[in-house]
Amino acid sequence: MPLPGTLRTVAATRYVTPLREGGSLPGLVEGDDLGMYVLKFRGAGQGLKALVAEVVVGELARGLGLRVPELVLVDLDPDLGRAEPDEEVQELLRASGGRNLGSDFLPGSFDFTPAVRDPGPDLAARVLWLDALVLNVDRSWRNPNLLLWHREVWLIDHGAALYFHHRFAAGWAPATSYRFDAADHIMLGAAGSVEAAHEELAPRVPAAVDRAVTLIPDDWLDPVFGDPDTARSAYRSYFTARLADAPRWLADVEAARVARV
Ligand SMILES: Nc1ncnc2c1ncn2[C@@H]1O[C@H](COP(=O)(O)OP(=O)(O)OP(=O)(O)O)[C@@H](O)[C@H]1O
Ligand SMILES: [Mg+2]
Repeated sequence: MPLPGTLRTVAATRYVTPLREGGSLPGLVEGDDLGMYVLKFRGAGQGLKALVAEVVVGELARGLGLRVPELVLVDLDPDLGRAEPDEEVQELLRASGGRNLGSDFLPGSFDFTPAVRDPGPDLAARVLWLDALVLNVDRSWRNPNLLLWHREVWLIDHGAALYFHHRFAAGWAPATSYRFDAADHIMLGAAGSVEAAHEELAPRVPAAVDRAVTLIPDDWLDPVFGDPDTARSAYRSYFTARLADAPRWLADVEAARVARV
């Protein structure tokens, strides 16, 4: 099935409930297509770059054949919060007028860990490899950010990945290497060869990244360099540099994995 070239846009019609206290306070909202979405708010403390990371990493993962709930852009009228009794939520809604990020709500899903069900060495290795590629440290036993739904493993919550973008400024260029600590990764003990995952998936990264960066809304990127396409190029050059550095980080992840098995 071909992947779409744009993210769908829906309008939020109802704020249903906060999903969890603390964190970025994602909320469940209903859209004008009658779908339910987990909303990541543009006005949350994590900022717009967290939403950008969700799109780049989520759509990259999808492009590489991993399961990710559909991502949509959600137009929010800040007045939607007027009837909301919780002041913190009201504040968040008021600060989030415009385009937010929604992820298709998977009803009846629950946290996946390899203790719930064996993911198999291939899938486990791919997820571990992806997280090393995008510098996502948010996939630990404490916080798996994987859901089991219809017997399949779904990847969520990529807002903390690509942490280098917090240093974006005019003239930014990727470092020659970035540190990724695999020690706490939830798939470490279940994964097969990460080098094999790399051989299979790395050739597909450039095209998948090209698609993913075109899906980022311009107005999330404007504040970054003042020019959305400069920001898109910066993300692309990160991935070029990261793939060039693969021999080093793959060896580190493999060493951590073999030590664990
Ligand atoms: N698409 C989804 N379908 C069903 N449940 C979801 C979905 N996305 C998120 N959730 C649930 O909401 C929780 C919080 O979402 P998420 O992890 O994306 O936000 P967060 O702000 O990073 O939270 P935390 O920092 O606590 O991990 C998830 O752990 C999961 O239980
Ligand atoms: Mg989470």
